Amino acid sequence: MAAEPALSIVALEAGYEPGLAIVRGASLEVQAGEIVAILGPNGAGKSSLVKAVAGLVPISAGSNRLFGRDITRTPAHRMVFEGLAFVPQTENVFTNLSVAENLELAAAVVRAARHERLDPVYAMFPDLARQRRLPAGQLSGGQRQMLAVARALIARPRLLILDEPSAGLSPKLVEQVFAKLREVRDGGVTVVLVEQNVKAALALADRAAVLVEGRERIVGSGAELLRDDTVAALYLGRHAGGAQGGRGR
Ligand SMILES: Nc1ncnc2c1ncn2[C@@H]1O[C@H](COP(=O)(O)OP(=O)(O)OP(=O)(O)O)[C@@H](O)[C@H]1O
Ligand SMILES: [Mg+2]
Repeated sequence: MAAEPALSIVALEAGYEPGLAIVRGASLEVQAGEIVAILGPNGAGKSSLVKAVAGLVPISAGSNRLFGRDITRTPAHRMVFEGLAFVPQTENVFTNLSVAENLELAAAVVRAARHERLDPVYAMFPDLARQRRLPAGQLSGGQRQMLAVARALIARPRLLILDEPSAGLSPKLVEQVFAKLREVRDGGVTVVLVEQNVKAALALADRAAVLVEGRERIVGSGAELLRDDTVAALYLGRHAGGAQGGRGR
């Protein structure tokens, strides 16, 4: 049986001001059960692309389908009901609320019974269960990123999109967050992540797309991308020998 792609982005154009497209005809197909990384230089439009898919940046042309359903015009607050959860790079948890309150709020948004949703998430994130009374603002960087992922999972999405989940984390913590994303995928959730941390991302992802000037330049497996001279010259060289992804923003 030919299953519908989890996500099908076709010739997408999107931007913040009318007539000024930042995403300029990007296309990408993600199969159910895949982990796909979106790479590319600073300002390439990676965040704009995933925000447009999540309903947070106006789309002027093209389309997005989620498991065959058109979500091109779905407003951001309806996306969880379509099965898409988005974890932005910054401000992805409520720092003044406790870990438990962050998760309870996510359950309330989808009008789900609190325990039915929180218990499995705590089972998957035992560190968060231990720290459930702690204000999220007091979590370590790695745990805070885990909470952002946990919050998104409360809605039981079929597709989880994350914008630079490794930003600002040490290589060891990056590995922990990525291991958790692998677990999420193994639990049946398709994962798309924007990454600066190229080597770690290629090790995690089944496939990756390199976005340049608002369009995908190359899409392939990690091995294919690592072999590609254009990718090396364009982008990977900048990261040779370094696995850190901690810029600001
Ligand atoms: N809120 C906004 N309003 C107007 N322009 C924006 C906004 N956010 C981003 N842009 C512009 O869109 C372009 C692409 O930015 P975007 O953040 O999507 O790139 P990126 O690939 O995610 O970069 P980075 O690697 O720095 O995160 C940039 O020129 C940026 O100035
Ligand atoms: Mg970005």
